[in-house]
Amino acid sequence: MKIAGTGSYLPEKVLSNADLEKLVETTDDWITSRTGIKERRIAAADEATSHMATKAAERAMEAAGVKAEDIDLIIVATITPDTFFPSTACHVQRNLGAIRAVAFDISAACAGFLYAMQIARHFINSGNRKTALIIGADKLSGITNWTDRNTCVLFGDGAGAAILTTKTPDDGDPSGLLSSVMASDGRLTDILSVPGGGSAIPITPDNAHLRLNTINMQGKEVFKAAVKNTCEACEAAISRAGLTSDDIAVLIPHQANVRIVDAIRERLRMPPEKAFLNLHKYGNTSGAAVAIALDEAVRTGVVKKGDNILLVAFGAGFAWAASVVRW
Ligand code: ACO
Repeated sequence: MKIAGTGSYLPEKVLSNADLEKLVETTDDWITSRTGIKERRIAAADEATSHMATKAAERAMEAAGVKAEDIDLIIVATITPDTFFPSTACHVQRNLGAIRAVAFDISAACAGFLYAMQIARHFINSGNRKTALIIGADKLSGITNWTDRNTCVLFGDGAGAAILTTKTPDDGDPSGLLSSVMASDGRLTDILSVPGGGSAIPITPDNAHLRLNTINMQGKEVFKAAVKNTCEACEAAISRAGLTSDDIAVLIPHQANVRIVDAIRERLRMPPEKAFLNLHKYGNTSGAAVAIALDEAVRTGVVKKGDNILLVAFGAGFAWAASVVRW
């Protein structure tokens, strides 16, 4: 399996740290020093997750030279689906006219795009499917509590996509997925969640004021779990690829917090210039973050043909994943 093309989409509206200073008791200095985030994008009220996902998909299809009728698998990783059902993937399928595909969503929060990549890889390597469209897309602004300074400064909206295709053994192309690690730990479900709005705690007129349908996070616990688990996953993915961290040209991490990225990088003994960061522009876009970063790194020439790149993400669940890809 190889990545034949990538694409991304960010909504136009920019929400800066200065804008947030007017909403909650915070400062640009606090947000920048604790997270590295300077601004984020916010989708329009009528711009659903599937709209952003479709735009990112169209750009990935164009980059890969793939038409809608070529696609036989669509996986959308999202925690902010358009509707409980049908899946956002089916909305995207309709928008694209990709009628040959089987389409479904997965829920793995910020690790979703890498989970989708590994699921698609199994479909492709088994010979079951040939051309997969995987998308990470989230409209977190819709599940953010804009009165909670602990969380509202962190998140943004966006979508990223990739086309994965079958490789023939004799095509002479060394690019492809070299290794993967994916894991989850359900003991940590409570440290990061949207507790209400599902079957466990439906939103009712009596509890609506509690905003249980917005993100609830124990930041320090998430920070610790992210560093521990992603460092181990990166080491395992590099080792399974038969490489050392010196062989990794570019680290494309989940774009949640620059301090988490620094911790991962330092554990892997990688210099700062190897980590691709765009969180200062977009904040944490959950399932979209690694996909958008990958697309930007490719389009700006940071990732070059033949490079080994390390992708890593973590999020609610707790769920995490890492992959080494040769570009
Ligand atoms: N502005 C100003 N002060 C703030 C803000 C803010 N926006 N937010 C919190 N504070 C205050 C707190 O109230 C606290 O004050 P206190 O000491 O008087 O109680 C103080 O700042 C310190 O807060 P801490 O929680 O200690 O700050 P910390 O250094 O841990 O940084 C942060 C908080 C940025 C949230 C960090 O813990 C973090 O990044 N955690 C990981 C979050 C993450 O990566 N989430 C990704 C998953 S997202 C997903 O899966 C959808």
